[in-house]
Amino acid sequence: MTEYKKGILILTFFTVLSGCTLSANQTQEESKKQQSAQSVATSSVSKELITQGAKYFRFRCGGCHEMSAEAGSSFGPHLEGIIGRQAGAVEGYDYSKALKEADFVWTEEVMDSWLAKPESLLPGMCMTFKGVPDEDVRKAMIAFMKEPE
Ligand code: HEC
Repeated sequence: MTEYKKGILILTFFTVLSGCTLSANQTQEESKKQQSAQSVATSSVSKELITQGAKYFRFRCGGCHEMSAEAGSSFGPHLEGIIGRQAGAVEGYDYSKALKEADFVWTEEVMDSWLAKPESLLPGMCMTFKGVPDEDVRKAMIAFMKEPE
């Protein structure tokens, strides 16, 4: 094995160890795939986009959120019907003060700006999350949240 190949192997190993770096890389790759899928798709919210969004969701949000009320709230509140839902509205979930007192509806636009920059919408919200800078990824996630598979 050449030194070069060994280097790549070691790099890959460390990338796998640090989950965040891995998801960032994969997200970029998936975003490229998604772009090519989108160029052949005819409808604006294609099935592929939703499937893509489901993957991103599992990756970036699924650790703390379930998509169905039946599965219930975990670390974060469940997100069934989140697009169109009043903020801070899951019965029995112990929201932060900021979210409890929030008076807005999660529309696609609100979700998009919040995903892009979480701390900008509700500074007191206790969700440790850095945001999704890639517009295509946000679009796919929102498509999935609107129509979970
Ligand atoms: C580290 C855990 C964690 C991750 C990862 C996470 N969330 Fe959250 N989320 C929370 C917590 C905790 C709250 C409740 C925050 C509060 O009460 O201030 C929350 C609240 C929310 C709310 C408000 C719900 C409501 O009822 O108003 C939305 C929407 C949301 N998260 C979406 C997402 C999306 C989309 C992702 C992935 C991009 C994500 N979250 C990733 C923990 C997380």
